[in-house]
Amino acid sequence: MKKLTIAVTGSQGQLGRSIHELAVDYPEFQFVFLSRSDMPIHHFELVRNFLAGIKPDVVINAAAYTAVDRAEQEKDLAYQVNGESVGVLAAWCAGHGARFIHVSTDYVFDGESDKPYVETDATGPQSVYGASKLEGEKQAFQFCPNSIVIRTSWVFAPFGKNFVRTMLGLLQEKESIRVVNDQIGSPTYAPDLARAILDILRSGKWVAGIYHFSNAGRISWFDFAIEIRAQIGATCKVEAIPTSDYPTPAKRPRFSLLNTDKISEVFGLKPRDWKEALRECLGKLR
Ligand SMILES: NC(=O)c1ccc[n+]([C@@H]2O[C@H](COP(=O)([O-])OP(=O)(O)OC[C@H]3O[C@@H](n4cnc5c(N)ncnc54)[C@H](OP(=O)(O)O)[C@@H]3O)[C@@H](O)[C@H]2O)c1
Repeated sequence: MKKLTIAVTGSQGQLGRSIHELAVDYPEFQFVFLSRSDMPIHHFELVRNFLAGIKPDVVINAAAYTAVDRAEQEKDLAYQVNGESVGVLAAWCAGHGARFIHVSTDYVFDGESDKPYVETDATGPQSVYGASKLEGEKQAFQFCPNSIVIRTSWVFAPFGKNFVRTMLGLLQEKESIRVVNDQIGSPTYAPDLARAILDILRSGKWVAGIYHFSNAGRISWFDFAIEIRAQIGATCKVEAIPTSDYPTPAKRPRFSLLNTDKISEVFGLKPRDWKEALRECLGKLR
């Protein structure tokens, strides 16, 4: 039987690399990994030519402009990568009978809720990054109504730029650090998200639409730092501070917990507890 060919964009990012590492567990698929230098997704003609050569059955878009603060200054580029380019990938998929899986973010919400966001809740991005990602969701469905879009939050992995790796350095170097305690969400271990995506494809079931995926838990960044400290046995003092004491160019949602019931009900995926995922991540970093 012919193997399904899966093209993965952004293959050097946290999610892309995680999919690459898991590929060995999915021998029924043939993967083509495309880094930013292989295929910059905002070079539309190049993208069409590349995909025409690969002829993928599935495109997983793990590429994104993720510099949340810089996006406030680079609005056009953020929209080009996170918005228009998604439309180009989606249109290619729709025009060639391929399936499209795109990844989005909790930052599409305004953060003013006090209960976990479901997929149908009203969006209201507070930053250029969030708005550009929302534009990507719209373009995915506009050009390929059969798309699956997975929103995720607070992504971490043993590699790449993320909170866990930053904290690991600070907790070992400093005597005390200050961490924001009034932004609530749930972390997502990139390899868990990667597995969820590949398990959806393995299931053979395809139900287009938006899904939420994160690890299970409800914490602040401060709680996250405290748990990292506990798991590595560091002694650095961690002080809880309000967001107002840590101003950033881009506004973050105060509350961005994602309700993951839909992905569980439709695809039988049960996200594990964030502390367990953190333990695995720190184990790989040791
Ligand atoms: N990180 C988070 O906390 C978070 C939270 C919620 C949602 N998400 C979403 O989850 C998805 C995966 O994020 P991630 O954490 O894996 O991000 P990441 O580590 O920043 O990886 C993104 C990848 O996209 C690549 N890229 C950037 N611009 C590109 C372009 N024009 N063409 C092709 N590739 C390009 C980057 O290339 P370089 O390596 O060369 O920079 C990088 O490898 C994204 O859709 C993101 O918006 C992330």
